Amino acid sequence: MDIRVFDNHDELSRNAAIFIAEHMNQNPGGLTCFAAGNTPLRTFQELIKLQSQGKVDLSSSYYVSLDEWWGIGYETKGSCVQVMTDTFYKPAGIPSDRIKVFNGLADSIEEEKERIASYIRAHGGIDLLLLGVGMNGHIGFIEPNQFKPGACVDVPLSDVTKQVSVKYFGKQLNLQTGITIGYDTIKAAKKILVLISGEEKAEIAKKTLIDAPCEEIPSSMLQKHENAVFFLDCKAARLLGNIVNKNC
Ligand code: F6R
Repeated sequence: MDIRVFDNHDELSRNAAIFIAEHMNQNPGGLTCFAAGNTPLRTFQELIKLQSQGKVDLSSSYYVSLDEWWGIGYETKGSCVQVMTDTFYKPAGIPSDRIKVFNGLADSIEEEKERIASYIRAHGGIDLLLLGVGMNGHIGFIEPNQFKPGACVDVPLSDVTKQVSVKYFGKQLNLQTGITIGYDTIKAAKKILVLISGEEKAEIAKKTLIDAPCEEIPSSMLQKHENAVFFLDCKAARLLGNIVNKNC
């Protein structure tokens, strides 16, 4: 496994941005899929900085969203589309015809899954996938023991995810379902960069990277993916022992 540990969140973010920029430079025109959530926000800032320095053209890529809370859209602060639009797509100047996002307010969840799945198919799959890891090990909205077949899937939200969601919305919303690219699509991504940051992620980082892979901890299944690269900061890597050769 390719695991890289950095001194702190800033270093992790700087290096993640360099990794993404280099990948995009080598694979222009690929389909990129970025997780929302708090972990990658600083990485997005660093990527935009690299673009302003002429080191990457972020508009050379196409973008598809990873997931969305079913029942909310851009108007709800904390929705994935709001976070991605305001922290990345807009400040990076990505043309709207290069972006396809889940609409959490669509009439039909089945049609919505198919709309995004066909966009991914048309691009020959995801080229670069950036993932965060939830407190319960979810990736996208693939929750523990919710490995449904399909390019895009809908999943009942776990209690942990509902509790954690307060950090995005500032209050508990009545959300029950997530819509997400499925594990079949994740597995097929050509490159996966997984970011795990912060003291509160140390336990789940251990379960992700050291314990035997199992569907109870979705992120642990990525151990099997030879194209997955894991970037952690020292706080998150605290329990990894000697599988990382960095003295934190
Ligand atoms: C967000 C997403 C989630 C988050 C995960 C970690 O689009 O798909 O899987 O990546 O919940 O969230 P943060 O980074 O806020 O800890």
